[in-house]
Amino acid sequence: MKSIKVAPSILSADFSKLGEEIVAIDKAGADWIHIDVMDGIFVPNITFGAPVIKCIREKTKLPFDVHLMITSPERYIEDFVKAGADIIVVHAESTVHLHRVIQQVKSYGVKVGVSLNPATSPEVLKYVIDELDLVLVMSVNPGFGGQSFIESSVEKVKAIREMNKDIEIEVDGGITDKTIVKCKEAGANVFVAGSYVFKGEYKERISNLKKEG
Ligand code: DX5
Ligand code: ZN
Repeated sequence: MKSIKVAPSILSADFSKLGEEIVAIDKAGADWIHIDVMDGIFVPNITFGAPVIKCIREKTKLPFDVHLMITSPERYIEDFVKAGADIIVVHAESTVHLHRVIQQVKSYGVKVGVSLNPATSPEVLKYVIDELDLVLVMSVNPGFGGQSFIESSVEKVKAIREMNKDIEIEVDGGITDKTIVKCKEAGANVFVAGSYVFKGEYKERISNLKKEG
């Protein structure tokens, strides 16, 4: 079993003091920093891009897990690598040439992941999964924090774990100390949490998510 990691999503942080928020979640025991990039086209919301990521890079040594919710991500991979991304996750639905963009990310020596919207079948991973470091299962429709966990995500995690025993499986959306339990049982090992972590005491919330069982 791979080690359990918690990746707080800075989408729920206080943007007026983003640097301090990152230092605080690092100290509170976060494993990765989850960074949600949205373009207002692939998803109905706009967040931030590479220049903001570059500014916060110096605040922590933790890996930056950059979740691209943008149309045709191949246009910006180099920018995100230069800004300091350690893991780049692209959506299967966001590009016509998924295999090509996977190779593009790998060519920069950073880790690569593919994310699936709630309605997307894991079948789309069949011919690329062995090329990947990570699969991100969206357990809400991407675009906003604070939504409710979609139950069918659990079955999807199980199906992906059956396809590949070694890959990191990350679940994103509606993760709490309650919803995380069935995701762990299904074989996921990386958990994004936005509102759950940022709406409480960071250290306590992160350790709740890491608890066994
Ligand atoms: C949603 C983002 C998530 C979001 C999760 O599109 O990908 O990372 O921040 O927020 P919570 O944990 O509040 O559902
Ligand atoms: Zn995300």
